[in-house]
Amino acid sequence: MTKLLIDCDPGVDDAMAILFALNRRDAEVIGISVARGNCSAAQGTENALRLLKLAGREGEIPVCMGAAEPLYGLREDRYPTPFHGENGLGNIKIPASSQKAADEEVEDFLYRLALENEGEVVLIELGRMTNIARTVQKYPSFVKKIRRVVCMGGTVFAPGNSSPVAEANFYGDPEAIDLVMQQDWPLTVVGLDVTTAIHLYYDDLLKLAERCREDCKEEVKFLCDINVCYQEGNRRQNRMFGYFPLHDPLALIVALEPSIVNTRRMPARVECEGKLTRGMIVTDRRDHPFEGKNVEFCLEVNERKVLDILFDAFM
Ligand code: BDR
Ligand code: CA
Repeated sequence: MTKLLIDCDPGVDDAMAILFALNRRDAEVIGISVARGNCSAAQGTENALRLLKLAGREGEIPVCMGAAEPLYGLREDRYPTPFHGENGLGNIKIPASSQKAADEEVEDFLYRLALENEGEVVLIELGRMTNIARTVQKYPSFVKKIRRVVCMGGTVFAPGNSSPVAEANFYGDPEAIDLVMQQDWPLTVVGLDVTTAIHLYYDDLLKLAERCREDCKEEVKFLCDINVCYQEGNRRQNRMFGYFPLHDPLALIVALEPSIVNTRRMPARVECEGKLTRGMIVTDRRDHPFEGKNVEFCLEVNERKVLDILFDAFM
């Protein structure tokens, strides 16, 4: 059983990733924290609570609201509503939960869960690294309590999606991810090199809704509904017709089934200054590299297998 601590910004694809994790028999989600990203931290926290209710897990998994802005304050920053809608969930409304968000600062929440499950926690990042960076700043020993970090974000060779060279989660808070990258913990980056290599066809999601297990029919129907907006955003802005990339769910899949990707370890930093390059991953590929700590980057992926793994969780 893999213990997952999920930091996110739900988010259409975050929602898909969370429901996937909740439906995996080999995974236990021990907590969810939320930061600003696809929507405000308050809206994202509300979304996470509602998602748990939808999955029949109301009151079982603690949810904590975290950073309302990036590590060193807000820059010009618009929510990606063409993809995630006004509410982060493709403008789809689901019933409110009676569960309340944890009454804790996010650093205390994450550190406490890491201590209670010392050495066992796989930390999953599906949004900006703000909450994790803040926890490392407040509790430097947090790093040693975590088994592994798997984060969706960045790109090494593929083009960016927020700028020519930067992916949205890294672009939104480069200082936070750079700080996280400089810690001594095993960090795997699941970036656009692999997430854009997966094409999830909307029609396949509709087929899944017909064939999935009875007890997750409502969840899969919801995934179909929220992805109408996501698909439309990808059609208009990325010229993807009938399909979209698989970002956040792939981080969970890599955490649970590492053999579906080929990776390369390289020392790396994240550019925090450049006018054109803010949020860009800078890997040191010299013969004698020294810029940054070693990070494992996912560079190739088995698309067919990923889609099977995703769908199997709901079958
Ligand atoms: C990432 O940015 C967010 O909009 C998505 O939820 C995903 O985490 C993709 O670049
Ligand atoms: Ca996300």
